[in-house]
Amino acid sequence: MMQPVNLMVNGTPYELLVHPSRSLLQVLRDDLHLTGTKEGCGTGYCGACTVLVEDAAVNACLYFAVDADHRHVRTIEAMRAPDGSPQALPAAFIECSGLQCGYCTPGMIMSAAALLASDPSPAEDDVRSALSGNICRCTGYQSIVASVMLAAARMAQHERQTQPEPSPRSRSRA
Ligand code: FES
Ligand code: FES
Repeated sequence: MMQPVNLMVNGTPYELLVHPSRSLLQVLRDDLHLTGTKEGCGTGYCGACTVLVEDAAVNACLYFAVDADHRHVRTIEAMRAPDGSPQALPAAFIECSGLQCGYCTPGMIMSAAALLASDPSPAEDDVRSALSGNICRCTGYQSIVASVMLAAARMAQHERQTQPEPSPRSRSRA
């Protein structure tokens, strides 16, 4: 029997009727046509299907769509600025050659996004650990790790630049 599901995907609300056996991956790709999220193994091994549910990285192939009811889902399609340009993470992957065929890349980027949301200044080992569930068949992991480190540095710099200057009064108290 179909179940009603309310999803918020990349800021857009969807009301769907979904069979309880359908995965979040199937709903994202087949029903919502958000095909940036890839299917690799389909068994929770490769991480190609990684998306964020309430800012936590999950394997969408193993996550039932009905379990995402009333939750916020973020996919690779959200990783661009309002003008369509790539945000810091995908931009760094391009700059550091953190991809070749690109099949694993959406999952890598979403896992990295979850890491940077919880730890904006990770060490390289933290990045390797956060990406340990994401398999890449064709590029060296070094360039992927370098991509995430570059994105973290850029995001930290942007954060510093956009923070308001302390007022002269609060500065004198410091
Ligand atoms: S397709 Fe989901 S982990 Fe491989
Ligand atoms: S870039 Fe091809 S699988 Fe990772």
